Amino acid sequence: MLVSTLSLLRTAAEAGYAIGAFNVYNLEAARAVVAASEANRSPAILQILPRAFELGGAPLVKLCLAAARDSSVPISVHLDHSRSPDDIKAVLSAGLSSVMADGSHLSYHDNVAFTQAMADIVHKQGAVIEGELGQLTGTEYVLPVSEYEESLTDPDQASDFVAKTGIDALAVCIGNVHGRYPKEPRLDFDRLAAIRSAVAVPLVLHGASGLNESSVRRSIQLGISKFNVNTELRQAYLDALRESLHSSPSADLPDLMQEAVACMSKVVSMKLHLFGSVGKAGILTT
Ligand code: 13P
Repeated sequence: MLVSTLSLLRTAAEAGYAIGAFNVYNLEAARAVVAASEANRSPAILQILPRAFELGGAPLVKLCLAAARDSSVPISVHLDHSRSPDDIKAVLSAGLSSVMADGSHLSYHDNVAFTQAMADIVHKQGAVIEGELGQLTGTEYVLPVSEYEESLTDPDQASDFVAKTGIDALAVCIGNVHGRYPKEPRLDFDRLAAIRSAVAVPLVLHGASGLNESSVRRSIQLGISKFNVNTELRQAYLDALRESLHSSPSADLPDLMQEAVACMSKVVSMKLHLFGSVGKAGILTT
């Protein structure tokens, strides 16, 4: 069933688990997420990145919405990392009710102005919005200390940001990065605890590929309700295609599609267990 992102996140926060938000680019990926969620009786989020929206357009949005509606578990559909007011308006018209307006590359002042303007548009349509404060530019291992510290979410600023923009969920930067981690990440949990005390909205952690179990568990305890997963799912898709073609070069397209869905489903399943959402499909408390 198609549900609201906010209701998924609030329910998860109350019950002490988190929702996996998986970046999908096509039907196979959407099927993999839904199949794994159904098999595990878990809620989940299908997310569309701007590049995927550029390639798939409104048909990709509608495909994800249909997959969510047909599912036997609660699923929401979300536009991830959008810097484009036009894209945000286009996905709202295509039926989406959850978007991330990403102004994190802007100065604080401009991030507030952009996110607030997008929140006005989104809320007028009865939809919900995630904003981001801080920058996922790199880990403590690759950036000079001062630059690294500056890229992290400041708890006091977070309180001001949420109040001024009216966002429904906040993506935080606490040492997490997109893509592969060069070394085991050391997330700044004291900072996360301070952000949790400063704001009331659900918190989101991007860059969940490669996070170990103890980091995920601690993040959930300290208030993360949504983890974004892209790299590991894409890798599973690409590996499935490469390995299938290597082992049987004459494999036909439906066989490749089936193998890709099976491999991506395994990754989604593993993440749902990690996030603690397995068996939580029946309970939406908010
Ligand atoms: P990963 O690619 O590290 O999984 O991050 C995904 C993400 O945060 C998308 O918004």
